[in-house]
This record gives sequence, structure tokens and C-alpha cells, in this order.
Amino acid sequence: MQKKTIKDVDIAGKTVFIRVDFNVPIKNGVIEDDTRIKGALPTIKYAVEQGAKVILASHLGRPLKDKKKAEEKGLPYDAGKYTLKPVAEKLSEYLGAAVAFEQDGNIGSLISAMNNGDVVMHENLRLDAGEEKNDPDFAKQLADGIDVYVNDAFGTAHRSHASTEGITHFVDTCVAGLLMEKELEFLGKALENPDRPFVAILGGAKVSDKIPVIESLIERKVDKLLIGGAMAYTFFKAQGFTVGKSLVEDDMMPKALEIEQQAKDAGVEFILPTDHQVVDSYDPINSRKAIQIEFTNTGLVGLDIGPETIEIFKQALEGAKTIVWNGPMGMFEEKPFDEGTIAIANAVAEATEKGATSIVGGGDSVAAINQAGLADKISHISTGGGATLEFLSGDTLPGVAALNNR
Ligand code: 3PG
Repeated sequence: MQKKTIKDVDIAGKTVFIRVDFNVPIKNGVIEDDTRIKGALPTIKYAVEQGAKVILASHLGRPLKDKKKAEEKGLPYDAGKYTLKPVAEKLSEYLGAAVAFEQDGNIGSLISAMNNGDVVMHENLRLDAGEEKNDPDFAKQLADGIDVYVNDAFGTAHRSHASTEGITHFVDTCVAGLLMEKELEFLGKALENPDRPFVAILGGAKVSDKIPVIESLIERKVDKLLIGGAMAYTFFKAQGFTVGKSLVEDDMMPKALEIEQQAKDAGVEFILPTDHQVVDSYDPINSRKAIQIEFTNTGLVGLDIGPETIEIFKQALEGAKTIVWNGPMGMFEEKPFDEGTIAIANAVAEATEKGATSIVGGGDSVAAINQAGLADKISHISTGGGATLEFLSGDTLPGVAALNNR
């Protein structure tokens, strides 16, 4: 680990600003998935135990952009959706101590009243336009009275915003939190020095979202690359197959062929599905059946990988020493089209039991792991979505680059 962490600096009695990623799904004030909150607890608890005065700050959603869109379309805008108050309440529960919530963003006035070990949480940073603009004035305001800046928001480290990058110009000591350290260690090892065989499983709707990752993995000579989800149809159509009404990005077809060639040239085993679960677009409820890819006719739409593909993917995972999985194998949110994704979740967990280091990232794949009750059978569940993809693409994350080197 090239970057200093919170454990490398003295934080006792200091005012410590911890940028966390509490961008979590909240419905009617209820947190639906608290993975990211739990993920940041080790850093927060450590800071409290060390006797720091802890300021927590995160974004939640994209309030100003959503407001603008709502205004343009004449739709109502629900400002209540964007408060982090429910997260502050949940944290108080987890920490067993009150977390003060600063609604007006006026943290400065609170700091002087804080005792060592106190925790205060900032309201949603993105309610201020300065956050996403990385406005130096806003960054300076956030840094006011802060001794140590800690970035534990791996999920937001690909954003160059006031609280992830700008603030580091106004605080001398800028270090990684413990979740950030864990993410960088697991993902960094997979990218730079993986134990082999190294198998990557990529899925999701759009191949365009995954091209940089696929290219980076091929460049690093991943041993096997398994492709599922709707993104596989762009490869099939480019190869001349009929894919019916399945999702395809026509403009990506030349790139898909290029990628397959790159994989071949690099000696990477590039494995596409051989069968899939389809429905008739006129009778989607009753017509589900598994067919070979080449028998897809124009009226069909593919929504999941088929049983033969599940077996092929399972075999490909046998003996793997490193596994990276990002993206669902089908329309995971609609049962029974979650079957392929759940089967892969089980296969990744089994391979982990047999000695593989497994890393799962991306909302749907992580949801599948949680849904199948397999979270504790995976070596590392990444809290990043876009950040994980950018890291695996080999990009430098601004929120990481800005931290002090060892
Ligand atoms: C995420 O959920 O991927 C992060 O919190 C970043 O959110 P953003 O895409 O709105 O910047």
C-alpha cells in the first residue's frame, strides 16, 4: 500500500474529517442496503477509540441534477429523499453512541463544542453546488478547523469533487481509511499480481460500460474471461447470429469483434454463453424456455444465461485462484431470470471455499451474493460501482491520488 492510512498518523485529540460513501438506497426513510455503512464502521470506530473528534461527510444521490431535471419536466421534486438523517440514526445504533447530525452544513460552529470521541455527521454534501464542481471555496470551507483528512469513500474515489480531491489542497495530512485500504489491497493485487488461474466474470446490460475493463484485463492476461448478461448479445450479433429482440449496442459491434481478437492474440480464453433463457416478446410471462444461442429467432428476447452455460461457467471457475466478478448474468431483478446470476454467485462462493480469492463488485452482483446469503463466503465485496470498474480499467482514481504517500 503506497498511501498512508489512518493508522500511520496520530489522530488522538485531533479533528478528523472522514469522507465516507453513504450513498445508500433509502426508501421512505428506511435504508434498504447498509453494506456501505457497515463497511466504514472499522474506520469510524478506530477514530473514536483513538479519541479523535470525528466529522463524517458523504453525498447521497444527485439532488441538484434531479431537481433541475424535475423543473425542466414540470415534475415534483422530493427534497426529503436526499437527507442523510436516516444514515446518522442508523450509525448511532451501530456505534452505540449518539451521532449528531448537522442539517445546515455549518460544521465549523459545532467543532468547538465537540469532545474527543464525539461523532458529527454532515448533511448531504451534494446539496451544495460547490461539491460536484470541486469549488475551492467549498473545499476550503469543508477543511476549516480540520487537522486530518481521511478518505474512506472508495465508491466515490473516481470523482474529483470538493470532498474527495479539493479538500486535500487545504489539509496537510490526508490519508486513506481502513475500508479504502482494504479495497485498494484486494483490487490492486488482482490487477497487478494475481494468483493464477485468474478468472474474470463480466455481465450487465451494456458492453460499452465494460470495454475499458475488458481491455485492461486482457492486457493483464487474465486467464479466462466469462461474458454473461445482455452485453453478450452485442458479441453474438457482431459474429452474425440472430439475437431477436435481445438488447444490442449496434455501434459497439466492431469493438466487440476487436476485443475477441485481442483476447485470442493474448491467449486469453474468451467464453461466451452457448445457451440462454428466452421469452417470446408477445407472451413474456408464459413463454420462458432455454435454447441454444443459434436457435434464437427474430421474435425472441434473451433474458438470462441457460443451464448449459451455467455448467460451462462453473467448470471454468474450477481451480481458479483469483476471481473478479462484476455484473449480473441476466435480468436479475425479475424472477426467475435471476437464476443464472444466483448460480454464478454460488459457484464463486464454492471456488472461494476451495481456495480462490474472490472479489465481487457492482450493485446487482453484490445484491445476488446477499440474496443468496453468501456474503461471508466471498473474500472481498467491493463497495464501489463505477469506482471499481475504473480501478480495474487501470485508471488513477483522483480521490486516491490526492492522498499522502508513505
Ligand atoms: C456510487 O454509488 O457509485 C458512488 O456513490 C458514486 O455516486 P455517483 O455516481 O452519483 O457519483
